[in-house]
Amino acid sequence: MSISAPTTGVRADATGFSLHAADGTAYRVELTMDLFAPGNPLLRDRLAGRRVVAYVGPTVNRLYGERIRAYLRDRLSPGSWTVHMVRTGERFKTLASVERIGALAKADGLDRHGVMLAVGGGVLCDLVGFAAATYARGVRYVKVNTTLVGQVDVGVGIKTGVNAFGSKNMLGAYHPAYASINDPAFLRTLPDREIRCGLGEIVKMAVIRDRALFETLVEHPDAFRPPPDRVGPPGPDGMDRVDPPRPDGAVGGPAGVEDYILRAAMESMLRELCPNLREENLARLVDFGHTFGPVIETASDYRVAHGESVAIDMALSSQIARLLGLLSEADCDRITDLLLRLGLPVHDAATCTPELMWQALRGAWERRGRRLHLVVPTGIGSATFVDDLDDLPAGVLDKALVALAAAGRAGRPRRLVVAG
Ligand SMILES: NC(=O)c1ccc[n+]([C@@H]2O[C@H](COP(=O)([O-])OP(=O)(O)OC[C@H]3O[C@@H](n4cnc5c(N)ncnc54)[C@H](O)[C@@H]3O)[C@@H](O)[C@H]2O)c1
Repeated sequence: MSISAPTTGVRADATGFSLHAADGTAYRVELTMDLFAPGNPLLRDRLAGRRVVAYVGPTVNRLYGERIRAYLRDRLSPGSWTVHMVRTGERFKTLASVERIGALAKADGLDRHGVMLAVGGGVLCDLVGFAAATYARGVRYVKVNTTLVGQVDVGVGIKTGVNAFGSKNMLGAYHPAYASINDPAFLRTLPDREIRCGLGEIVKMAVIRDRALFETLVEHPDAFRPPPDRVGPPGPDGMDRVDPPRPDGAVGGPAGVEDYILRAAMESMLRELCPNLREENLARLVDFGHTFGPVIETASDYRVAHGESVAIDMALSSQIARLLGLLSEADCDRITDLLLRLGLPVHDAATCTPELMWQALRGAWERRGRRLHLVVPTGIGSATFVDDLDDLPAGVLDKALVALAAAGRAGRPRRLVVAG
């Protein structure tokens, strides 16, 4: 009897997606609702029988800590689990935090059969994922993605890492999660700014490969966003405050639309990643928004959030495509307009300088094996690469930056909250 290997590719079903890569890597991204409800067995099934060391950031601990502990208490054996709080935020996305995560696991007696559980946004999952990749040369980890960026981006891939040597994600590892779980219910408590950041990553997928998703975002710019009457003034950290969820459980736009957007973005991302999971090919369409973005983020000292830097980069790359004759002016305007309608920035005066943006191009050229591979749209739903620095004639970047500044001045990003 011959046993046939599973076909490579991405398969969608009612409860998520399964990915089988050609190198044998296989994993699932689960979609569930109310993960920590007493009747939901999904997480218990992924953890049962193993020592579990769980990690949360301070905000997730405040909002969900009790529910997480109650679930683990009810569903796992006594003494088989612990929950720790670790500091999050880009400033704490460091090797020192990874060391602390490992030290906590060691103190709890985690061995090679144990599992690290991360419940949080991209920063926490990247930290715990990297710790899991290196602890005892690799232990299982399960990630529960609680932000929109987490659910459509971090949660569907296998990258982990920390910031180092002044650069984003400079140290890291490919380490597929044993389970990656998306529960849209977490998005109900997510501040509006974080929702906008997630929408930025979704626009990325829409522009490079999914026109229907783009049109849906144009029609439903309020998807996932808390209604204005639930958003309070920003807190001391500058983030919007969201009241408790509405009794009807709705987030922003109609639930069916949000379900479609979430699934379409996850599926597009999985299909792009699958043939190139470990990035042997450094020309990746999913790097749209991630050439200038990392420099904007770091040079602003993280004042500009990740998703916002992606939005600015996409607007700049679209202007470059227009100037190179690869993208029509109408489509360039549509991309910029959608970003603005979603409340995302398309320009940041302090960091969008010719010097810093050239530095970003040179940095990307070095990272991508001495090729530029700048992703630029060629329409709504299609993109290509500007492969070499020489393919960018002198003056194009400068002109694109001037056009970007004008677009930023002309369009007023819609704000749900006026900072007091
Ligand atoms: N590994 C990958 O493939 C990959 C992909 C994309 C981004 N990233 C990384 O992810 C990070 C960005 O992730 P992010 O956007 O999730 O940011 P984040 O992890 O900083 O989370 C944003 C904020 O939301 C809070 N939060 C999390 N869940 C919440 C909830 N349900 N309700 C209320 N508040 C909540 C967090 O405490 C934090 O303050 C960056 O470091 C980026 O480099 C990694």
